[in-house]
Amino acid sequence: MSIHIPSSDGDAQEVEVRAALPDALPILPLRDSVPFPETLTPLAIGQERSVALVNDVLAGTRMLVMVASRDPEEEEPGPDDLYDVGVSGVVARMLKVPDGTLRILVHGAQRVEIGGYVASEPYLVARVTEAPDVLEASPELEALHRNVQTAFSRIIEEVPYLPEELQVAVANLDDPAELAHMIAAALRIETAEKQELLEERDVAKRLRRLSGFLARELELISIGTRIQSQVQSEIDKGQREYFLRQQLKAIQDELGEVDEMQAEAQELREGIEAAGLPEHAMKQAERELHRFERLPPQSAEHGVIRTYLEWLASLPWSISTEDNLDLGHARETLDRDHYDIDRVKDRILEFLAVRKLKPDARSSILCFVGPPGVGKTSLGRSVAEAMGRRFERLSVGGVRDESEIRGHRRTYIGAMPGTIVRAMRDAGSNNPVLMIDEIDKMGADFRGDPSSAMLEVLDPEQNSSFRDHYLDLRFDLSHVFFICTANQLDTVPPALRDRMEVIELSGYTQEEKLEIAKRYLVPRQMERNGVGRSKIEFTDEALHEIIDGYTREAGVRQLEREAGSVCRKVAREYAEGKRRSKRTIRPKQVAELLGKRRFQPDVGRRTGEPGVATGLAWTPVGGDVLFVEATAFPGDGELQITGQLGDVMKESASAALSYVKNAMGRLVPDLPDDYFRTHDFHVHVPAGAIPKDGPSAGITMATALASRISGRPVRADTAMTGEITLTGQVLPIGGLKEKALAAQRAEVPRIVIPSSNERDIDDIPEHLRKEMDFVPVDTVDEVLEAALEPARSLRVAASASA
Ligand SMILES: Nc1ncnc2c1ncn2[C@@H]1O[C@H](COP(=O)(O)OP(=O)(O)OP(=O)(O)O)[C@@H](O)[C@H]1O
Ligand SMILES: [Mg+2]
Repeated sequence: MSIHIPSSDGDAQEVEVRAALPDALPILPLRDSVPFPETLTPLAIGQERSVALVNDVLAGTRMLVMVASRDPEEEEPGPDDLYDVGVSGVVARMLKVPDGTLRILVHGAQRVEIGGYVASEPYLVARVTEAPDVLEASPELEALHRNVQTAFSRIIEEVPYLPEELQVAVANLDDPAELAHMIAAALRIETAEKQELLEERDVAKRLRRLSGFLARELELISIGTRIQSQVQSEIDKGQREYFLRQQLKAIQDELGEVDEMQAEAQELREGIEAAGLPEHAMKQAERELHRFERLPPQSAEHGVIRTYLEWLASLPWSISTEDNLDLGHARETLDRDHYDIDRVKDRILEFLAVRKLKPDARSSILCFVGPPGVGKTSLGRSVAEAMGRRFERLSVGGVRDESEIRGHRRTYIGAMPGTIVRAMRDAGSNNPVLMIDEIDKMGADFRGDPSSAMLEVLDPEQNSSFRDHYLDLRFDLSHVFFICTANQLDTVPPALRDRMEVIELSGYTQEEKLEIAKRYLVPRQMERNGVGRSKIEFTDEALHEIIDGYTREAGVRQLEREAGSVCRKVAREYAEGKRRSKRTIRPKQVAELLGKRRFQPDVGRRTGEPGVATGLAWTPVGGDVLFVEATAFPGDGELQITGQLGDVMKESASAALSYVKNAMGRLVPDLPDDYFRTHDFHVHVPAGAIPKDGPSAGITMATALASRISGRPVRADTAMTGEITLTGQVLPIGGLKEKALAAQRAEVPRIVIPSSNERDIDDIPEHLRKEMDFVPVDTVDEVLEAALEPARSLRVAASASA
């Protein structure tokens, strides 16, 4: 075997690689590799003695011996540091690197044994002898050969440090000895192991040994991949979650929901703990908190539970205010806010007195009944203030659904506690004055009866364990002071009415209104609109004008509004700089500022003709005057009734006509016998949009009919109220005070009343009693006597119109 080496002068030079070995050869120590025969070994030569060695060798036979060092750390290994077996070789190529070191390529030739060193300066020189392979062909060798080949090619596929070309080279090598060397040189195994392979001269043994190393290598590789893939998948999972969390956080940051689920749960927990829940509620709260902490914040359930817990935390479970039961203080407060109504105030004070003496007594529930604007709500507020309690109101008017009071179960989307629990939260104490407005306007339908829920709320026996559907917990309402308000009691379910202590408030007389306006409403409106005493003054006449001409109400709400309107207009004059001096409001200024009078006394105008009578009615919003018109025309005795009348009122009309048929002969002596057979009658009560019912218009209908038939007009100064019987008796009616007030508003000074109602006159304020002329009657004959103008002529009305 020879190699072709290009010389520096261009001539090729043949060197016999396996030339016979000279006696002694220079020894080149390799610090971290093992040489192998029949392989090309690139080497970097840096040490001074090695550079000298290479230079000398190149100048001569080019032959040297490479020997591995036992200790790679040893800088300049001596003979003892080197193995005893090496490889002889020929320097095939040399390259000088600018830094003074050399790169050489050595073509390994054969295994040699070092016999003994002959020089160590300037470099090592030793005597060497050949140590050839021992090779015996056998099937086992063949098998080992193939085994090593396949194992190695698998390794090449798995590890990146072995070039693909080796695969081809290995596959094509038939010589088992060479194969072993090539693979041993390529493998990354310990130097000692490589050296072991180099020293093994029996090829079969060497292959076996090598196959062991390859197997170990393969095992290592497969473990490595396994670990790798495990690590990889763990990293993948971890990273996936990490990335998702990062994204979520970014989204939450963007939405301004700085996640911190923990913090949120903690906050809720603190809120709940601060709210002082009773034991049963605390248990429930704990359960929900636990669930909350484990739900992902994105889930719908999460929000639902949070809202629920927030509700629990916001309720006044353990907050209560201290009662002030000083009756003197209560009286002062009530007097400060409300004019007169002494009887009402007395009732309230009695009520408080009982509370004071028997604090744990099951208190009954107050109910203020009266027309709008008479101060029910503001009285409730004063009661709360007098007692030093919080005040909260809720209206149940128009509520038809039990769940408005008791809430919806949490399974409903957007469920909320009912109005009672909401009011308790707003009150912020567990013993407020809770005013339940419009209890008379609560309805019932298919969604459930709210009054049964109200019953539970208002029942002292039950309300200590009131259960709201949303909270699904007992809430104690037994310390609440309930005050209901209503315009009338008729429509309040009897069971509810039973539980309440009713205090009636009635409308105000014109004089009372004047006082209330002067003392409360006007000063309040002046203050609210920023016009003080130096800027505006209302005369009594002006207030009277507003009361008479611009309002027609039982209470004072509209009055307050009109006073406010005047104040605002004056405020504007000042603000615009149109006025500097004080503005005194007289009736003329009222007309200037509020426009034309809205109400005119119209009784006189309406009743001028025969056939129109003035009645008085009671309505939930206060008393009212109503006009009954009757007419007669040729026909056959029919009675027509119009004006949105209820059944009771229609029956009254029939009774009135029947009575008139009997009595008319006495009143109109020349009435033709067949008059009632030859005439039809029509009774109409105008203002048809307002439903009217009740028996108390009976005498008014009879009077209208009698007036029409007799042709005698009804006195313009007279109104009337009373139920009629077929025999002409006048029966008592209700609501006399409101009716009297209505008459006063309509400027009618004379009222015909059933004599059995005479005792009710005491209820009427004294000044009104003096101003009014009450005419008590027992029979319809007396009514007609009192109400009809004296007969001017006895002309029969029917013939006049015929
Ligand atoms: N006797 C009074 N003294 C002073 N102010 C009064 C008196 N009565 C009513 N007011 C005033 O009249 C206004 C209307 O009263 P409030 O709102 O209490 O009426 P209400 O009876 O609750 O009516 P509604 O039935 O319509 O709810 C309030 O500003 C109140 O202060
Ligand atoms: Mg009110």
